[in-house]
Amino acid sequence: VDELHQLEASAGWTDEDANLLQKHRDIFLRRAEDMVDSWRAVIASQPHLAKWFFGPDGKPDEEYKARVKQRFVQWVRDVCIRLHDQTWLDYQEEIGLRHTPEKKNVTDSSDTPALVPLRYLFAFSSLVARGARKFFIEEGVAGEELEQLQAAWSKAVILHVTLWSRPYTKDGLW
Ligand code: HEM
Repeated sequence: VDELHQLEASAGWTDEDANLLQKHRDIFLRRAEDMVDSWRAVIASQPHLAKWFFGPDGKPDEEYKARVKQRFVQWVRDVCIRLHDQTWLDYQEEIGLRHTPEKKNVTDSSDTPALVPLRYLFAFSSLVARGARKFFIEEGVAGEELEQLQAAWSKAVILHVTLWSRPYTKDGLW
C-alpha cells in the first residue's frame, strides 16, 4: 500500500480525481457497457489484438468473449467507485495475472492463447484513456469539468495498467 501511494503520486492521482470519478459515477454505471463495446470493436478490427480471444479452431471464442466482457464492464464501474485499499490492490494483481499464462483462461476454463503480451496492455491503454471522452460529452459534461474528468479517468487507467504490469516483470525489476 505504501508503494501504491508513491505510484499514485507519480501518476498525479489525487483525492480530487477520486472524488470527480465518484461524482460522475452515474455516467460510468450507465455507459460502461457502451464504452467497453466501443473498445472491443477496435480489438476485433485488429487481427494482432483479436487473436488473444481465439479458440484452437482459429475463430473467436464467443462464449469467452462474452464472459470476459462482463468483467471488463464491471471493472469500468469499479474504477470510479472502489477505494484504493488492500482488497482493491489484490484484485489489480489478479487482473494482471489473468492476462498472463498463470491465470489467463483459468476463470472461464477456456482454451485461447495463454498470454496477452504486455506491450499491448500499454499500447491499448491509450485508447481506453481517450475513448471515454465521447461518452462524457454525450452525457453533457463540458468545459473545465470535462477536462478534469478526462484527466482523472486517464490517470486511473494508467495507474491500473501500471499495477497490472507487476506479474509480467522479473523479481525486483518492477
Ligand atoms: C488498458 C488496457 C486494458 C484494459 C483496461 C483491460 C481490462 C481487462 C479487464 C478488466 C479484464 C477482466 C479481468 C477479470 O477477470 O476481472 C480483462 C481480461 C482480459 N483482457 Fe484485458 N484489458 C486491457 C488490455 C487488453 C488487451 C490489449 C487485450 C488483447 C487484445 C486484452 C485481452 C484480455 C483477455 C483475453 C482477457 C481475459 C483473460 C482471462 O482469460 O481471464 N486486454 N481485461
